[in-house]
Amino acid sequence: MVSVKSPTSHAKVNAFVAEMAALCEPAQIHWCDGSEEENTVLCKQLVDGGTFIPLNEKKRPGSYLARSHPGDVARVENRTFICSKDKSDTGPTNNWADPIEMKATLKGLFKGCMQGRTMYVMPFSMGPLGSDISHIGIQITDSAYAVVNMRIMTRMGQKVLDVLGADGDFVPCVHSVGAPLKPGEQDSVWPCNPDKYIVHFPEEHAIWSYGSGYGGNALLGKKCFALRIASVMAQEEGWLAEHMLILGLESPKGEKTYVAAAFPSACGKTNLAMIIPPKGFEGWKAWTVGDDIAWLKPGADGKLHAINPEAGYFGVAPGTSDKTNPNAMQLITKNTIFTNCALTDDGDVWWEGMTDTPPEHLIDWQGKDWTPEAGRPAAHPNARFTAPATSCPTLDPSWDDPKGVPVEAFIFGGRLSHTFPLVFQSYDWNHGVYLAATMGSEATAAADNQAAVRRDPMAMLPFCGYNMADYWGHWCALGAKLKHPPKIFRVNWFRRDENNKFFWPGYGENMRALAWIVDRVHGRGGAEETAFGYAPRFEDLTWEGLAYPKAKFEQLMHIDQARAMHEIDDQKEFLGKFGDKMPGAIQEQWTKARARVEKAGAAAA
Ligand code: OXD
Ligand code: MN
Repeated sequence: MVSVKSPTSHAKVNAFVAEMAALCEPAQIHWCDGSEEENTVLCKQLVDGGTFIPLNEKKRPGSYLARSHPGDVARVENRTFICSKDKSDTGPTNNWADPIEMKATLKGLFKGCMQGRTMYVMPFSMGPLGSDISHIGIQITDSAYAVVNMRIMTRMGQKVLDVLGADGDFVPCVHSVGAPLKPGEQDSVWPCNPDKYIVHFPEEHAIWSYGSGYGGNALLGKKCFALRIASVMAQEEGWLAEHMLILGLESPKGEKTYVAAAFPSACGKTNLAMIIPPKGFEGWKAWTVGDDIAWLKPGADGKLHAINPEAGYFGVAPGTSDKTNPNAMQLITKNTIFTNCALTDDGDVWWEGMTDTPPEHLIDWQGKDWTPEAGRPAAHPNARFTAPATSCPTLDPSWDDPKGVPVEAFIFGGRLSHTFPLVFQSYDWNHGVYLAATMGSEATAAADNQAAVRRDPMAMLPFCGYNMADYWGHWCALGAKLKHPPKIFRVNWFRRDENNKFFWPGYGENMRALAWIVDRVHGRGGAEETAFGYAPRFEDLTWEGLAYPKAKFEQLMHIDQARAMHEIDDQKEFLGKFGDKMPGAIQEQWTKARARVEKAGAAAA
């Protein structure tokens, strides 16, 4: 092994790297400094090895396309483990394995796993360098693809070691694609292993990932650290690590209100993070702080202050277009890594939904010729772009502020064709926690029957690093301590009418619901009490620029008693899974919610 001098005097970091090098047996070690020069060398190496295809410099300067192994295209939830000492601390919504047994399994897998490869050591900061809200990780990896992506997604390199000093805390993150090379063996374009393990040790705050080079499995700062391990740290230390976008809404008078919003996948989170205010909202500005993750810590002012721990966006490409998200299209015009998108004949990328008419010929995500008659998608449905936050045209001026931004509202939503109105506000904090704990999306959008709801509490189902019921308890306890907790709202952009058509136009028009939320936060917006919460009447929303009939709005907001009762009773099964762990406060909110629906039914009868 070629060993290089460590650039840090941090004894624990050096011991961690030495221990991993002894286990993984790499051919050499490279400490990443995060520089432009280093990035250029790694990208060239990826091009020479066939992993990266440089895109047309005129059309997408500084950008590359990578095609993954067809068996390595997404996060692997069934191979994701939380290894708490006590199984009940992992809870019924996570896969558990005994930490001692799992460590032994991993040590067996990692033994010699980097033979013939370089072990990269990446110091990275989740959040602005040196911020009290930020935390540092050290990822070792044998994937140059992971390094160049992490350089976009996090603050990475020597500057992080400088902040860490000689004894700062860090989360050790161990990653290998699990494909050692024999002497003289030709590397594959996308090395990986069919056996995959994404493992979290919550008591140790450690992450081990084996066998995958893709996205959240390999870029360990994202879901593994910023959500699963950080949620554990947040419970221990009294803050929140959430699967939320952060958006700043600025009125024509210059009043700026920050909101954070959680949605399960496929609900247009990136579109909302980059919303363009519609006609009628001239003079309003929407600013993006983050599109996926928020860390929120209580400030001296009694509010929650949020940072986006990431420094880039790892967005789903299919469906992104000049119509659905022009800001995202601008974000990815340069310095972007595309993965599993299709390649055009002039060296650009394409995916389903980018244009109404597909190009006549493409090379698909598996490197095969493709024409519109092919009968299969040209881009993988989970094809991604990795782009730096600094390319975002709506990037908030405070996105890198170590103090974070004060969050005044939490918004929770799912994809639901019935039952739930466009927007409503919880009666209080614990009611809001209950609304978030029971949220979800429909598995299918059925026109006339009640489709099953996949509960996804706080959109954290695959990302909470400990027992979900304890997590709700933590939310309730934290809210009680805050002098100015954010107000909590539920939204549903996806309600359908009796002809199975969406009631609501969505996209930029969602600003009408957001503006009401802003009004409520500032004690201005009107509302009526309903069985679900405070809800706007027609006259409480701004309608300038949109011809939306009052009668249709009333249908959009209508709470059908039978459906509401079905929903509340359906929640019981999910909540029941948590047994004795269930916080009394949530149980109480469920009982109150049921009584409200019952009372509304009796009043209407
Ligand atoms: C993501 C996800 O990739 O939530 O952001 O799955
Ligand atoms: Mn996400």
